[in-house]
Amino acid sequence: MITANSLFRPDLLAKYSANGPRYTSYPTALQFRDDFDCAAYLRAAADLGASATDLSLYFHIPFCDTVCFYCGCNKIATKNRAHARPYLEQLKREMALQAACFDTRRPVSQLHLGGGTPTFMSNDELAELMDAAREHFSLLPDDEAEYSIEVDPREASPDTIAHLRKLGFNRLSLGVQDFDPLVQRAINRIQPLDDMTASVMQAALHAGRAFIRSAST
Ligand SMILES: C[S@@+](CC[C@H](N)C(=O)[O-])C[C@H]1O[C@@H](n2cnc3c(N)ncnc32)[C@H](O)[C@@H]1O
Ligand code: SF4
Repeated sequence: MITANSLFRPDLLAKYSANGPRYTSYPTALQFRDDFDCAAYLRAAADLGASATDLSLYFHIPFCDTVCFYCGCNKIATKNRAHARPYLEQLKREMALQAACFDTRRPVSQLHLGGGTPTFMSNDELAELMDAAREHFSLLPDDEAEYSIEVDPREASPDTIAHLRKLGFNRLSLGVQDFDPLVQRAINRIQPLDDMTASVMQAALHAGRAFIRSAST
C-alpha cells in the first residue's frame, strides 16, 4: 500500500511540516502603491535598462470545480467547463496588449500557469494558450527555461501529465493539503492518495526522467 512516507522523502516532509509565509500576489500586498499608475507601468515596461533581461509570464486560470474551504486564492467555483473558452479568448487579447508594451525579443525564461485550476481547461485549450504565448513572445526551448504549472491531482490524469510535457512544461507543483480523510472532508477536498495523487505523481516522475535523459543527450 502507498503511504505518504513511501511516496515522499521523509526528510523533506519533516523540513516543510511547519507554518511558513504564503505569497498570494506579486508584488506582495504591502508593496502596492497608489502612485504606480498605468503610465508608470508603460514606462517600466519600455525601460531600455530592463530590455536586456529575460521576461517571465504568469497566467491565472481562476476556475475550480469545487471550492476548498481554506483557500485564499482568486478563484470561481463552477462545474461549467464552457467558461474556459471566453476566458481563453480574453487571455489571448491580453497577451497581444501586453506584447505591444514590451520588447518581445526579450527571451521568456519563466512561464507559470496558476489558479484556480489550470487543468480546468481542456488539453486543446491549454495547447492553444501555449501556442498563443509562443506567437506573441519569444519562449526559450524547454531545456533552457522553466515552464511550470499548478496541478490539482483531482483534475488531472497520467495522460494530462504527458500532454503537459508535450506542451513544454518541465516543472509542476501538486496540490496536496492533507492525507487524513477526516481533514479532507472538513476542508471539502476529497483526494485519495493511491488512485489519484500517486498516479499523477508517478506520471510526473516518469515524464521528468525522460526529459532529463533527453536534455542530457
Ligand atoms: C492555489 S492552488 C492551485 C492549484 C490547484 N487549484 C490545487 O488546489 O491544487 C495551489 C496550492 O495552494 C494551496 N493553498 C490554497 N490556499 C491555501 C492556504 N490558505 N494555505 C495553504 N495552502 C493553500 C492548495 O491546497 C494547493 O496545494
Ligand atoms: S482547487 Fe485549488 S485554487 Fe481551487 S479552491 Fe481548492 S485550493 Fe483553491
